[in-house]
Amino acid sequence: MVHMTPISKQQIEQADIVFIAVASSLMGSWIKELNPNTHDLGQYYQSGKSRLETYKEMIAAIMHEVRAGKNVCAAFYGHPGVFALAPHRVIETAKREGFEAHMEPGISAEDCLYADLAIDPGRFGCQHYETTQYMVHNKNIEPSAYLVLWQIGIAGDQELTEFETTEEKLGLLKKKLNAIYPEDHEVILYESSTLLLKESRIEKIQLQQLANVETSLETTLVIPPLRKKS
Ligand SMILES: C[S@@+](CC[C@H](N)C(=O)[O-])C[C@H]1O[C@@H](n2cnc3c(N)ncnc32)[C@H](O)[C@@H]1O
Repeated sequence: MVHMTPISKQQIEQADIVFIAVASSLMGSWIKELNPNTHDLGQYYQSGKSRLETYKEMIAAIMHEVRAGKNVCAAFYGHPGVFALAPHRVIETAKREGFEAHMEPGISAEDCLYADLAIDPGRFGCQHYETTQYMVHNKNIEPSAYLVLWQIGIAGDQELTEFETTEEKLGLLKKKLNAIYPEDHEVILYESSTLLLKESRIEKIQLQQLANVETSLETTLVIPPLRKKS
């Protein structure tokens, strides 16, 4: 995201070492200008490797520097505590070992979607689920509220090894949603802009088209409330 808060910028500048997990190489370059001792956590991702293993390696790399007594900053894109496992785990680990650690909030894709799609979550309510968890578990959906499905770009990846989804898996998601929402219900594929001059993707489609859409690792699916037809 292009929305770095002043306090996050200050933490990055003052750290002895900065680990980054960012959404664009431009953001990575900018952070390197703020602090040249920057290391990319993206190197731990690998095709076919479980993301749980990747997160363990990220935590180990960060904790290695914490245990060496350094002032460590780990910068994750968006809000580090939103749909992100490693930032929560590494703070828990550091505190358990007696180190001082805290999380600075950031501007999440969630914040951007409220602005770009003119949604006030307080109006009808808003439910958030990780897409695969929604597909696999029996989540109670309240159709009169918004439903936001994160990580649709890896929908159905129970092994946590994929970096894309398939038409078949999106078809299963569509089928599950179709038990609640009609085929012609409007849903929104949302990708907030991560660069200053780029427009956000706000693609409105009917639910019945969901299996054939393009998704990326940045796509979030927004399902507006089901309104009673008068
Ligand atoms: C691992 S989560 C990280 C979210 C991040 N911590 C945040 O606060 O935005 C990745 C998911 O966040 C959502 N996401 C990430 N970048 C996005 C963007 N530019 N626009 C919309 N959603 C995005 C997508 O659902 C994506 O699959």
